[in-house]
Amino acid sequence: MTNLPSANSGKSALEIAITAVEEAGRILLAHFGSKIQVKHKSKGNLVTDADILSEKFILEFLQDEYPDFDILSEESNSSTSLSGFAWIVDPLDGTNNYTFGIPFFCINIALVKDRDILLGVTYDPVRKELFHAEIGRGAYLNESQIQVSKESSLQSSLVGLDLGYSQERGEEMLQVANRLWGQVHCLRAMGSSSLGLAYVACGRVNLYLHRYLFPWDIASGLLLIREAGGEVTDWQGRPANFRDTEIIASNSQLHREFLAQFGQKQKPE
Ligand code: IPD
Ligand code: CA
Ligand code: CA
Repeated sequence: MTNLPSANSGKSALEIAITAVEEAGRILLAHFGSKIQVKHKSKGNLVTDADILSEKFILEFLQDEYPDFDILSEESNSSTSLSGFAWIVDPLDGTNNYTFGIPFFCINIALVKDRDILLGVTYDPVRKELFHAEIGRGAYLNESQIQVSKESSLQSSLVGLDLGYSQERGEEMLQVANRLWGQVHCLRAMGSSSLGLAYVACGRVNLYLHRYLFPWDIASGLLLIREAGGEVTDWQGRPANFRDTEIIASNSQLHREFLAQFGQKQKPE
């Protein structure tokens, strides 16, 4: 495990990420259920004042503690070059759930260096569930180490998925869901892809699928699942990185079974 630089306050990068998501969680809860300003970014894709307030706090806090690190964050025009150490931030994952009063949303912060994800934190402020992982050190839900499920058959699996904000990719996912429907125990449209991934890491969801995600949706979840013994690939079966938009996340056995039936052939170079 790379030794991560300490923050200006002397705290570790993990402590900083945890403090940031917990405080952002307080901000989100303070506005949850109240009338807040909502804007439409694209079809089905909202941003609220709560996203903005949460992001403002997180970015200022991270910049104070680590002024030299890049930041890629969903709602701001922050750096996208990501050279050296960089934070990847989703200040509110599950904005639609949040806006409609469904208490299932979270905050993500990951620290990456080049293509490596060094730490990931996903926090559900409603349930006070903090998922965290550092590369090579396992994945945790609050104080307990977590593992992906041991389920080995699709027939008995709870499969989580989401449709995302691309019409075309959403329709593709609906076709997959249609084919899957008779072959699994049940399907769940989660409304928060990041909690879907965190739930794969702790074994609550057996398999999670998506076809149109962004780095802030998946960077933390990728590390959580790998550190919990699971597998995350694209739909051709190649190990996923945080810039991939399409992912299949599960334990290795179910992953293999799903890929054999639903995977796509690799395109020739
Ligand atoms: C979205 C959620 C949703 C997924 C979308 C994401 P947001 O994130 O994770 O479940 O289907 O693709 O963009 O907009 O709520 O941060
Ligand atoms: Ca998101
Ligand atoms: Ca978001």
